[in-house]
Amino acid sequence: MEQGICYGGIPSRVPNNTMGIRGYDYVEFYVGSAKMVAYWHAKCMGMDIVAYQGPETGVRDRCSYLLATPTNLKIMITSALQPSTYDITGFQTKHGDGVKRWSVEVVDVKETFKKAIVNGAVPVKKPYKIEDKDGFVEKAAIRIYDDTEIQFVNYDNYKGLFMPGFDTPMQDIKFERNETGLKYIDHIVGNVHINEMDHWADYINRSLDFETFIHFGPGDISTKYSALLSKVVRSKDSVIKNPINEPLEAAKKSQIDEYTEQYLGSGIQHIALATTDIIASVKNLRANGVEFLSVPDTYYDALAKRDFGLEENIEELKEHGILCDVEGKGYLLQLFTKPIFDRPTFFYEIIQRRKGATGFGQGNFLALFEAIERDQERRGNLTSYDN
Ligand code: FE2
Repeated sequence: MEQGICYGGIPSRVPNNTMGIRGYDYVEFYVGSAKMVAYWHAKCMGMDIVAYQGPETGVRDRCSYLLATPTNLKIMITSALQPSTYDITGFQTKHGDGVKRWSVEVVDVKETFKKAIVNGAVPVKKPYKIEDKDGFVEKAAIRIYDDTEIQFVNYDNYKGLFMPGFDTPMQDIKFERNETGLKYIDHIVGNVHINEMDHWADYINRSLDFETFIHFGPGDISTKYSALLSKVVRSKDSVIKNPINEPLEAAKKSQIDEYTEQYLGSGIQHIALATTDIIASVKNLRANGVEFLSVPDTYYDALAKRDFGLEENIEELKEHGILCDVEGKGYLLQLFTKPIFDRPTFFYEIIQRRKGATGFGQGNFLALFEAIERDQERRGNLTSYDN
């Protein structure tokens, strides 16, 4: 370990919410082969493999790769080393590769967990410590959606590389790639079954003292064929933002139906990663091999007619397929990747908020969702509800 480098928490973040939440920590995926998916994130997403746990570090049932950017955006990729590691093999057999847990850094794990349980959260793991010669890390978890967890973590008493069990990576590889400038997690989105959105929005609002920020009802989000409902819940200081989508029955099944059918349940649909230069980020991600959705050129004809103080060159946005939603005095630039795994379930969003934009790109929903639908049709999944 290089002296002084630590991928734990950021104690200087001072929470401004009742749950002591400092901000997003890391997101952990359960996958079939962690090494391969970690290499994809290193090569394509431009993240560095900074820590590892597995047999070489004394962990025999699983291996995990922690990837990070210089701004401490962290993704963990984990796979089972034994069929008997049921928490991973059971999840992975059912859902395919996907997000098992997202972690928030808190000031006091016991206190946050206690408040969440009193407020109605379903406990998954009571507060516990893991320790080694460098100190200890405290964790706990509550349930969200069918098979996903929100984890509370505190690293204040740990001075090691990341957390007990982890050491420097076994491989010393310099990946040839373009740097992507990804900074932090902006929001994490869940897809749920019909009639579950209100339940989960209410659950998270009660458990974590969050609030509903935006509600898209019937008629707000639809294409020619399909429709969906969406609620955005967030911590009251807005450091954590979690949109929740539910299908709404229409002529054909929506992308949310496709997700829940292919994932065999509710779970995380996408993670939005923020950048301060989306044109450079998307250009370099594409050069690294990341696939994005494509929107028709006519999208930019309509955008060109609007006068809202766009500071980017519209031809460059068009060249890289980046979408723009105008919102009051600000605007939001965004683009979705194609699903990154074999099943059409999880994808990333790249996002840049300009001039104080706080929304989620409502003006782009039609273009984005039609683009998803075109791929859904190719997969044979744009079917009626009778199928
Ligand atoms: Fe999003």
